[in-house]
Amino acid sequence: MKILALSGSLRAASINSAVLRAAVRLAPPGTTVSLFKSLGQLPLFNPDLESDVPDVVATFQRTVAQSDALIIASPEYAHGVTGTIKNALDWLVGSEAFAGKPVAVLNTSPRAHHADAALRETLKTMAAVVIEAASVTIPLLGAQLDEASMIDSPSLASAISGSLTALRNAILTPTEVVTPLFPLR
Ligand SMILES: Cc1cc2nc3c(=O)[nH]c(=O)nc-3n(C[C@H](O)[C@H](O)[C@H](O)COP(=O)(O)O)c2cc1C
Repeated sequence: MKILALSGSLRAASINSAVLRAAVRLAPPGTTVSLFKSLGQLPLFNPDLESDVPDVVATFQRTVAQSDALIIASPEYAHGVTGTIKNALDWLVGSEAFAGKPVAVLNTSPRAHHADAALRETLKTMAAVVIEAASVTIPLLGAQLDEASMIDSPSLASAISGSLTALRNAILTPTEVVTPLFPLR
């Protein structure tokens, strides 16, 4: 099973990217977790480009389509999601492969509830299945930890592994058939 990790932060020292790199190394048996590293190279979404998308967009859309599930960690910027993650999701609105995709939403900051709620709303509108058991808040803001330190922390490693295991279980036992909340295109 393939789980694709998306970080909504482009910062080199991003705590959201770090927790996803930890997830790559904590992938449960039978799964691989890979981090898509080129979200920052995606052009701003433009419907005019959809008939002949740039290569990086095609790679992104194909990688998502070939993944069994997504795990997303994104900061909150000004009480909203970051442009990085919203732009990436906008490129997926027209993708049939996205409907029904199980998604875990990791929140690395308990105070960032606006972005967490907005991200979930967008995902549900796009007919993704937000897996609640896999969508956890792991307080990391200001912790200055890299992925190795997270893996070395029993409580953090357990929280990350628990999320991935819940996501894997959701892939194995799909429970919902979903359609977009309204015709998106
Ligand atoms: C432009 C900007 C806006 C931010 N707005 C918020 C906000 O509205 N709420 C909040 O809790 N944190 C806010 N923050 C703090 C970030 O969420 C925090 O620094 C987070 O760790 C960044 O994630 P990263 O380490 O993955 O880059 C903001 C940070 C920046 C740079």
